[in-house]
Amino acid sequence: MTRPTFNPFDPAFRANPYPFYQALREQDPVHSTPLGSIILTRYEDVSATLRSNDFSRDIEATANEPTDPLWIAKRERRKGRDGAKTILNLDPPDHTRLRRLVSKAFTPTAIDRLRPRIQQLVDDVLDQASDNGGMELVDEMAFPIPFQVISDLLAMPTDRSDEMREWGQLITLALEPTSTLEDLDRTDEAFSQLIPYLFEIIEDRRRHPGDDLLSALIAVEDDGDNLALDELISFVVLLYIAGHETTVNLIGNSINALLRFPEQLALWHNNPSIATRAVDELLRFDGPVQQTVRVPIVPVTYQSLHGPVTVEPGTIVTTLLGAGNHDPAMFADPHILKLDRANSNRHLAFAGGIHYCLGASLAKLEAEIAVGSMVARFPNMHALGDITWRDRLTIRGVDHLQLEF
Ligand code: HEM
Repeated sequence: MTRPTFNPFDPAFRANPYPFYQALREQDPVHSTPLGSIILTRYEDVSATLRSNDFSRDIEATANEPTDPLWIAKRERRKGRDGAKTILNLDPPDHTRLRRLVSKAFTPTAIDRLRPRIQQLVDDVLDQASDNGGMELVDEMAFPIPFQVISDLLAMPTDRSDEMREWGQLITLALEPTSTLEDLDRTDEAFSQLIPYLFEIIEDRRRHPGDDLLSALIAVEDDGDNLALDELISFVVLLYIAGHETTVNLIGNSINALLRFPEQLALWHNNPSIATRAVDELLRFDGPVQQTVRVPIVPVTYQSLHGPVTVEPGTIVTTLLGAGNHDPAMFADPHILKLDRANSNRHLAFAGGIHYCLGASLAKLEAEIAVGSMVARFPNMHALGDITWRDRLTIRGVDHLQLEF
């Protein structure tokens, strides 16, 4: 039997990765790539890897030196970049220290206090769209709502939102496994504009603190050696970008999924109380983050179809979250959207273990209010023209979706 390949450059894969994930899972669930990395597609393997202490998330420090010239160049570029690592790339104890500083601001109870403000923002957008008979989903709803909410939390000005949106897109380009050196030039250029902008805001906030998350983080920094200035800046960049770059895609992908399964849209419209479960199912069905990576620090053994496969320390292991979320061993009829699915909250869209998404409650609340309000008010909405997708692998999202109500 020929083994399936994992070719992220194939346009068909980018348009719809799920059949490719399925082929890999069925034929070679612990897949070795020509570059020496491992790709996991089974729910159990992905979930166990994310939760295991035998892996590091600090790829720069723990992964083997690459052999491919492009990857060698990319790694050198990343090493040469100034600034601290973010919590996303740190292992304990630094990870534990940084995460503790912000986790209180992101608990479900703390986040639920934002509900009236988010509902008001969404209602304003929908009132306007109702007058216009429709809207372009991404520009009018999916981007502005999460962007305003994270800006509120950090008390950031929103007058440069167009630039911020572009910087966010360029910075997340570096997360793509297919990124080129030219892409990394564009990422560096975006950082070189964003960092001085944030620095100015931080200095101003230091002089005029308020009741916001940024002021709270600055107070920790001022307090001693708990949070260094470069850590603070990296943290703010991560919160700010993760706060809108991903949720925009959850709103876009969710509306796209509901348009493909109109009976599910009707189900939500008729049963508003399923909102929380519905959002979990939408995250499972077509999540905004499709993959992440880990590096084993001890030999780790997986069961493949033909026996055990031992993965040596230093190997990059890609955990395909989207593939785990479509594993029939965990989710019956995985390619069908079922908003009342009993176990949808077991999805891997926010990863798992110590790096489980810090903003999960916020992202879910935003989607519940934005998508739920659209379903409540415009159950007959439909797409006008073609939907376009962002040409990305790690982050998957609708780029443009014109709706008519
Ligand atoms: C639907 C929207 C979102 C999705 C799908 C998502 C997905 C993820 C995933 C998969 C990870 C873990 C990556 C890994 O383990 O390698 C993660 C981590 C993280 N996310 Fe999110 N995210 C979303 C929204 C947000 C929001 C709104 C915020 C902040 C306001 C946020 C902040 C973070 C942070 C700070 C981390 C790092 C946590 C750590 O390393 O301990 N995310 N996110």
